[in-house]
Amino acid sequence: MDTIVVAGGAGYIGSHFCHLAAERGFAPVVVDRIGPGTDRVEAYRRAVGGRFALEVCDIGDEARVGALIARHRPIAAVCFAALIEVGESVANPGLYWDSNYLRAARFFRALAVGGVRHLVFSSTAAVYGSATGAVSLAEGHRLDPASPYGLTKLACELTLQGASAAHNVAPGVQLDHASSDWPPPPSIAAAGPAAFAPPSSLIFRYFNAAGAHPAAGLGEVHDPESHLIPRAIATLRRASPAGEGEAVLTINGEDYATPDGTCMRDYVHVLDLAEAHVAGLEYLLAGGGNDVVNLGSGSGYSIRQVVAAIETVTGQPVPVRIGPRRAGDPAHLVADITKAQRVLGWRPRRGLADIIASAVDFHRHHDGPGA
Ligand SMILES: NC(=O)c1ccc[n+]([C@@H]2O[C@H](COP(=O)([O-])OP(=O)(O)OC[C@H]3O[C@@H](n4cnc5c(N)ncnc54)[C@H](O)[C@@H]3O)[C@@H](O)[C@H]2O)c1
Repeated sequence: MDTIVVAGGAGYIGSHFCHLAAERGFAPVVVDRIGPGTDRVEAYRRAVGGRFALEVCDIGDEARVGALIARHRPIAAVCFAALIEVGESVANPGLYWDSNYLRAARFFRALAVGGVRHLVFSSTAAVYGSATGAVSLAEGHRLDPASPYGLTKLACELTLQGASAAHNVAPGVQLDHASSDWPPPPSIAAAGPAAFAPPSSLIFRYFNAAGAHPAAGLGEVHDPESHLIPRAIATLRRASPAGEGEAVLTINGEDYATPDGTCMRDYVHVLDLAEAHVAGLEYLLAGGGNDVVNLGSGSGYSIRQVVAAIETVTGQPVPVRIGPRRAGDPAHLVADITKAQRVLGWRPRRGLADIIASAVDFHRHHDGPGA
């Protein structure tokens, strides 16, 4: 079996990916620091990460990452590890530059020095910023991150894109050969500071990951939770007799230029994302070149439409209130996924109804009755 290192593999998207990758014949080694987080989140991460070889390690610890690469000899890596809260990044940019850029860059370098040539990296639609004027966003759209979160992801993208050019010009460093033999040839091992990132990388810009794989005990567990679908489901739980008092979902703005006035977003099922990552790994391992690819569903749903779909699945009204707009929230953020189809032969197979049914099912079992 082909070993792959999966940084952040104990988190939401990473755990779904590891589950699918194992089914497809890869042997994931999860590299995840598990904490810091609440006890609830850490317990979940430890449990799902522990299904695979688990290295509890920060991706910024180059020495430990180097040692585990030498031990496990992965043929490729996938990097999900990051902090993911846009609001937190605005309040504390330094935390995000440290965690999402400096630590990620050390991880990239440890991979390159260790001879790992292929990397699939999680980026985000946040690199497009407020993206005004576009019906659906293709990869060539102007990049204009509106938060430190988006900026740090863009910095990682540039680092990875720069790696292939640097390796091509650095004397004596040839990282683009076709052989996948281990150990890495001396030209790589001796690359030293010239090797700062794997030369073959695929950058995925996700739109809104959502849904779950309840049969595998996997789902979305963040704390705090800022994503619409789990937040809406949580309000049902709190409003139920078993819950802890009233809770209301705040919709930020109802005066956008959309059919019902609420923001339109693109929700892609986490298992479809996992499929895309397997396709991406296979693409790189078959010699595919560096690229940047959007991953979304290609369809937009308004906040009101998502809430209505949750009400249909659960048979319960979601209590909502209308709050003010949030700064930087675009009216419409939907992916053009033509490139993913063309380059990877990938297209999402699950729709909004599957996303919501799976998320409700997961939260019922994971959090207890109420929704
Ligand atoms: N969830 C979404 O809708 C979404 C959208 C766009 C992009 N993304 C990106 O996808 C990736 C995964 O998101 P998620 O929702 O699964 O997040 P998550 O918080 O559930 O998972 C992230 C995992 O990375 C680990 N981690 C964080 N920093 C680490 C470090 N320095 N060293 C080791 N482990 C570390 C955490 O412990 C956690 O297990 C992130 O890079 C995020 O920016 C997510």
